[in-house]
Amino acid sequence: METKNELKPSAIRKTILEDHAQLRTMLKNIETHLQSKKSDLLIKATQEMVDFFLKHIEREESILAPVLQEIDSWGGVRVDRMKQEHAHQRQEIQLLVSELKQGKMMQIIPRVEKFMSDLYEDMDSEEKECLSPDLLKDDLVTIGNYSGLTK
Ligand SMILES: [Fe+2]
Ligand SMILES: [Fe+2]
Repeated sequence: METKNELKPSAIRKTILEDHAQLRTMLKNIETHLQSKKSDLLIKATQEMVDFFLKHIEREESILAPVLQEIDSWGGVRVDRMKQEHAHQRQEIQLLVSELKQGKMMQIIPRVEKFMSDLYEDMDSEEKECLSPDLLKDDLVTIGNYSGLTK
């Protein structure tokens, strides 16, 4: 497990963006299986994506959240939003995994499709709001919104 304080913001950004790239590749793979209607491959690929995704959100909480928290006066809001979103995603995953186990494609397909479109949206918005290079700079000077106010 990474130790929070040893990673620079740019390295954290790179790690999380690499996870997102990996997730997008996995989602593309799932789309292929949705089209080809190969249910065993779809279930396997979805389970792998979910396993990776759970590690990804843990990583965001362990290495990204502490840096976001300190980065500017919106840090707390960003971190709260992230945690709420992750709580929601963990619930959705529980439902998805239980349906994968039951193997009923009529239920699996719409749930996978919904999870995928939510995940694309989630990654886009994280990249805009929490992972921009302007935000995660290595020369971290934490300045509040009011002039002269430093944390
Ligand atoms: Fe996230
Ligand atoms: Fe993410």
